[in-house]
Order: sequence, then C-alpha cells, then structure tokens
Amino acid sequence: MTRPRIISPSILAADFGNLQSMAEMINHSEAEWLHFDVMDGVFVPNISFGFPVMEAVKKHCQKMLDVHIMIVHPEKYVQRFAKAGAGMLTFHYEAAENPQEVINLIRAEGIKVGITINPDVPVKVLEPYIDQVDMVLLMSVFAGYGGQKFIEETYQRIDDLKEMIDRINPDCLIEIDGGVTLENAAKLYAHGVDVLVAGSTVFNAADPSEVIRKLLNQ
Ligand code: DX5
Ligand code: ZN
Repeated sequence: MTRPRIISPSILAADFGNLQSMAEMINHSEAEWLHFDVMDGVFVPNISFGFPVMEAVKKHCQKMLDVHIMIVHPEKYVQRFAKAGAGMLTFHYEAAENPQEVINLIRAEGIKVGITINPDVPVKVLEPYIDQVDMVLLMSVFAGYGGQKFIEETYQRIDDLKEMIDRINPDCLIEIDGGVTLENAAKLYAHGVDVLVAGSTVFNAADPSEVIRKLLNQ
C-alpha cells in the first residue's frame, strides 16, 4: 500500500514581514502541515522565534502546525507549545535528559509526538521510543540554520530507521528536514519518507504553491 505524502513548508525561510499572506498561501496550497523551527541559541547556535509568532500564525493558518523544537529542557515548554497551537511537537533526543518523560508530557496534551536526532546521532538510540511516537524526524543537515546542503549519508539512515519502524510500529511516520529540493524528493519517497520539510526550496521560489505541488508529485 502506498502511504500518503505530506509537505511541511518551513516558515524559517519565509518573509517574516508578511506572515499573514504566507499563512494564506499555505491554506490554499497542497501543503498539509506548516513547519515551525524553534531555536533557543543554546541547543543550536541560532535563535529563531517562539510562542507569540506561533500564535499569530496559528490565527491565520488552517493547516496543522508541525513544531520542531531545537531547545534544551523541552519538558519545561511542552504545555505552552500545545497551547500556542502545535498539532505535532517534535523534540531532540539529544536535548532531553529524559526522553520518555517528554513523550509522556506531549501525549498528555493530546497532540502528536515526534522525536528527532541530528545527523551524528546513531539511529539505533531511537529504538526504545519507536512504539510510542507518531513520527521520527531525521535531520538531513545539522539543526540550526535553513539553506544548508543535504547530507547524502541520510539515505542509509532512512533505510535503518525504516527497518526499525516496519518491525516495531509501521504507523510511525518518517520526516526529513534540511536541504530538501525538487531534485532529491523522489529518492526520499523511494526510501520510505512520508513527510518532507522544505524551507528555502519553497519560499525562495517565485511561486511557492507551485513548488509545493511539484514536491508532492515528484
Ligand atoms: C534547520 C531547520 C529546518 C530548515 C530547513 O535547523 O530544522 O527546518 O528550516 O531549511 P531548508 O529547507 O532551507 O534546508
Ligand atoms: Zn525543522
């Protein structure tokens, strides 16, 4: 059976002066989700945006907010992200002292749970959590900045993750984030990826919704 594909454009690459029109473009596009990169300047060397920006976009956006938190102490902020409108909350395994606790807290909010790792963390560390999460996000660049080049070793990591997911929890989605383009989308789907995050590919384009449609149909 073929699995549904999902495109999650990352607002990190959008024009922050025009977030309302960005949200309206997303509403009319074939993107099912909207990806939010929250960075704290501690877990990653960059600071992006937080709750007020999420809440403002949420008011105008009818699509699910796919929130990727690159922050230390994720357990402290789960409730606030849920309140601000997250439909999926994905935290970094490396940033959590107790990943199980973070999963439980997200579940308690009644939203979807995602877990993620940077490219230098072995996929195997996720095995104990696969049966408890809705999605694994495999970073295909080091978290922190948009516009980086896709790391080719990611394909092998997707294969290893896919083997684990098929064995333990076939409903768990695989999301890829970083350096996704019209050139590598088809290969990513072929390896079993369900969700593509795309920042610069979508928002640097003259016609972002056309690129979203193309990403979906590669
Ligand atoms: C990087 C972020 C990505 C980023 C992707 O830390 O997690 O979501 O916005 O940007 P592109 O698609 O430009 O590589
Ligand atoms: Zn992201």
